[in-house]
Amino acid sequence: MGRIAYVNGRFVPHGQAVVHIEDRGYQLADAVYEVWALFGGRLADAQGHFARLERSLGELRIAMPMSRAALTLLLKETVRRNRVVEGLIYLQVSRGVARRDHAFPATPVRPAVVMTVSAVDRVASEARAAKGVGVVTTPENRWGRCDIKTVGLLANALAKQKAREAGAAEAWFVDDLGLVTEGASSNAWIVDGEGRLRTRDTNANILRGVTRTSLIEVIRREGLDLDERPFTPAEATAAREAFITGAGTLVLPVVAVDGKPVGDGRPGPVATKLRRLYIEQARATAI
Ligand code: PDD
Repeated sequence: MGRIAYVNGRFVPHGQAVVHIEDRGYQLADAVYEVWALFGGRLADAQGHFARLERSLGELRIAMPMSRAALTLLLKETVRRNRVVEGLIYLQVSRGVARRDHAFPATPVRPAVVMTVSAVDRVASEARAAKGVGVVTTPENRWGRCDIKTVGLLANALAKQKAREAGAAEAWFVDDLGLVTEGASSNAWIVDGEGRLRTRDTNANILRGVTRTSLIEVIRREGLDLDERPFTPAEATAAREAFITGAGTLVLPVVAVDGKPVGDGRPGPVATKLRRLYIEQARATAI
């Protein structure tokens, strides 16, 4: 059975799913999105992603297209129709379709809603996590509202391409002070020389990762030390361990930064354990 997409009230074969050429998401990146990991066909960290969706929409003054409950039913129905058990679901909400004009349409239009589902090979993901991945650094060149999860991802796409061409899995943006902000599609972490977990605080111009927030619950429960403070790439290579978090990567060990090994160049025990504990929690609380 082929993939099915949800587009503005209809389920359609993926290959025939289209949006209007004057959708403001398409022309102006006037749209927000969320990505949920799917475990056992259920949505991981569901409420965290809904809360951020509502916040992103609110910042752009786009109405929630429907209630959380209705959205949940639709997301789950889209997953069901795709028969995906382990994977990801993508939701995009744009301001809607209107004649091209930078300012908002004078008469409000209906937000446009799109959902797509993709399968993830968890065996392959675990094998990747067991090996760890490399990251490259790149100058931070994004706008000042990275806390809003918009589809304006050109800088992120270019950074990710730079990583791919270097044989790395992720790019870390580095600000004018030489500090890592976050990854192109993940949050960045290290385990420092004292064994403390370090990740940038969310007052900075970064996305408040839902996986990051859920992992902090795990970290607190385990009684580990957490320091919400940024770090430099040099601190990352001098650290015991490094890793990234996100709905796509979960908790993924980083073993090299710009080709320089982190720790002994292999996934460390803390990241490996946190990956397992995060996945257990996400599976157990998925809806
Ligand atoms: N990316 N930072 C950025 C820039 C991101 O795009 C993402 C997620 C994260 C992690 O957020 P979360 O833990 O809520 O997934 C951090 C998604 C997965 C994507 O763009 O596909």
